[in-house]
Amino acid sequence: MTDNVKTSDWWRSATIYQIYPRSFADSNGDGLGDLPGITQRLPELESLFLDAIWLSPFFTSPQKDAGYDVADYCDVDPRFGTLGDFDDLLAESHRLGMRVLIDLVPNHTSDQHEWFTAAVAAGPGSEERTHYLFRDGKGATGELPPNNWLSVFGGSAWERLTAPDGTPEQWYLHIFDVSQPDLDWTSEWVREQFREILRFWLRRGVDGFRVDVAHGLAKKEGLPDFTPPADPSSVATVEYPYWAQPGVHEIYRDWHTVLQEFGPDRVLCAEAWVEPLSDLANWVRPDEMQQAFNFTFLEAKWSAPAIRTAIETSIEAFDAVGAVATWVLSNHDVLRHASRLGMNPPPPQGTGVGPRTEPKPDEALGLRRARAETLMMLALPGGAYLYQGEELGLPEDTEIPDSARQDPSFFRQHSPLHYGRDGCRVPIPWEADAPGYGFSPNGASWLPQPKSWARFARDQQPAPQEAHEYATNTHTLSLYRRALELRRINQFGLGTLTWLDGYGDDALAFTVEAIRTITVISNLGTKPLRLPAGKPLVFSERPWLDRPLDELPPNTTIWMTDAD
Ligand code: NOJ
Repeated sequence: MTDNVKTSDWWRSATIYQIYPRSFADSNGDGLGDLPGITQRLPELESLFLDAIWLSPFFTSPQKDAGYDVADYCDVDPRFGTLGDFDDLLAESHRLGMRVLIDLVPNHTSDQHEWFTAAVAAGPGSEERTHYLFRDGKGATGELPPNNWLSVFGGSAWERLTAPDGTPEQWYLHIFDVSQPDLDWTSEWVREQFREILRFWLRRGVDGFRVDVAHGLAKKEGLPDFTPPADPSSVATVEYPYWAQPGVHEIYRDWHTVLQEFGPDRVLCAEAWVEPLSDLANWVRPDEMQQAFNFTFLEAKWSAPAIRTAIETSIEAFDAVGAVATWVLSNHDVLRHASRLGMNPPPPQGTGVGPRTEPKPDEALGLRRARAETLMMLALPGGAYLYQGEELGLPEDTEIPDSARQDPSFFRQHSPLHYGRDGCRVPIPWEADAPGYGFSPNGASWLPQPKSWARFARDQQPAPQEAHEYATNTHTLSLYRRALELRRINQFGLGTLTWLDGYGDDALAFTVEAIRTITVISNLGTKPLRLPAGKPLVFSERPWLDRPLDELPPNTTIWMTDAD
C-alpha cells in the first residue's frame, strides 16, 4: 500500500468512494455490473485521490432488494463473479492505494437464506425460529399481525406463514421487504454467526464494513405497538421501538473487539438514520464504530443557517466522543444531490422523482448548488463519502418508466408519485460513444440509461494537463479531481474549523486550519456576496472566477488563502 493509507486512524480524514456494483461496470454483457468490471475500471479512479472504496452488496442473493437481501454472507453471487474475482479486486484496489470496505447486512437476511428456510421448516417453538422474530398473531385465530408496525417500504411489517397443508401459521417481522425477515439479535447464536462472518472477510483482507441499518438490530422488548408521526422525517429517534434502541451498542462493542483481532486499522461505518446527532454519536464512541454517515447534513435544506447548524452540531457531537464527522451528500438510497438541490422542497427520502413528478428538478441550478456544496464538504474536517457518478455531475434519472422499475419500495407503496430509489442507481456513463456509454460491452443495462447522458461521460471530461487550465475547465470531474487533490495535499480532513461571521445570513464562511489554512466561503443566497479584499483565490467551483474577484455569485463556493 502507498503511504497515504498507512496510518491506523486513516478513516478520520478519508475520502471514500461508494461503488454500487450493479451499476458501475459490466464485464460480461448481462446488463448487471460485476466484480471483474470494477477491477478493470479501478485505475480510472486513481486521479480522485481516494483513500478507500465501499462496495454495496455483491453476496449470494435473490436480488429482491438489489442485494440487501443476503442468502449467503460468505460467497459472491454468480451474477457478480466469484470469491476469486473479489480477491483480485481487493488486490488491485490495495495496489492502487485504496482500502476496501464491504457492506454488511445484519438486520435481516433473505427469506432464501438457509437460516430462514430452516426456521420455517422447523416450525413454531423450535430453536431455529428463535433466530428470527416469529410471533403468533392476534385475534381469535391469530389472523391479525402481532403488532401495528409498518414496513419502511410500505404495508405491514408482518407476513403470515402458511404450513404445507395450507393451515395459516405464525407471523414473521420484516421491517423492509417481505423477502427480508428481521433477525432476532437477542439470540447468542445469531451473534456468533456474525462474528464469524466478520472474521471470514477480515481474513480475506477487507479493511472494514459499512453496516446496513445499524440502528435497527435491537427491538424494544415486547414489540409494543407504535404509530409513527404523521409526517415522519427519514431520520429516526429512540421513540421508535425498532430504531436506535440502546441494545444495539453492545453488538458493536463486541464487533469492535473482533476487528481488533486483525489490527487497529479496520473500520465499521454505521448507516444509522438517527437524530439528534448527539445520539448518533453513540455509534462512534471509542469502543464501538469508527464512522457514522451524517444524514442530518445530507438532508439539510439549501440555506446557510440550516447547513451551518448541521455542521456545527455534528462537529460538536462527534468531538464530544472523540470521533469525527463523516460527511455525505449522495448514495444509492437518496436523490442524487445534483437533482435534490434543484428542488424546493425535494420529496422525502425514498420517494424519488419520476415522469409524473411536477415540478421536475431544475437541472442547471441543482448542479451549480451540488458543486458548491461538494466543495464546501470537501474542506470540512472529518471523513467524506462520494457516490459513484457524482464526480461526473450526474443528475437523478427522472424518466424511468414504471415498467422498468426494480425497487421493491415502488411496488409496496402503491402510490403513483412514489417512485423509489431506481433513479440514482442507473448504470454510469464512461464513454460517450460506446454502447451503454461503456457500462457494458453490448449496451445491456439493468435499468435504462437516459439518452442525454453522453455529455456526462467520463471521457468527455478530460483532466487539464496543467494546473492553470483549471481556471477555464468547467467539467465537474475536474472540479472533483482538483478539490480532492488539494484536500489530500493539505489534509483538510484533519483540520480545525473556525466560523467567520460578517458575511450575512445567506453565506457560510469558515476557515480550516490544516497544512495550509484556507478560507471557505459559500454564497447560498440570490445576490452576489462581497468578498474580503486581498485574499488570493485557491480554488472555486466556478472555473471562470479566476481573479481578481470582489464578489461571489449566488450558489458558489470558493476556497481562498492568506497571501503567502
Ligand atoms: C439500507 C440500504 O442502503 C438500502 O438500499 C436497503 O434497501 C435497506 N437498508 C434495507 O437493507
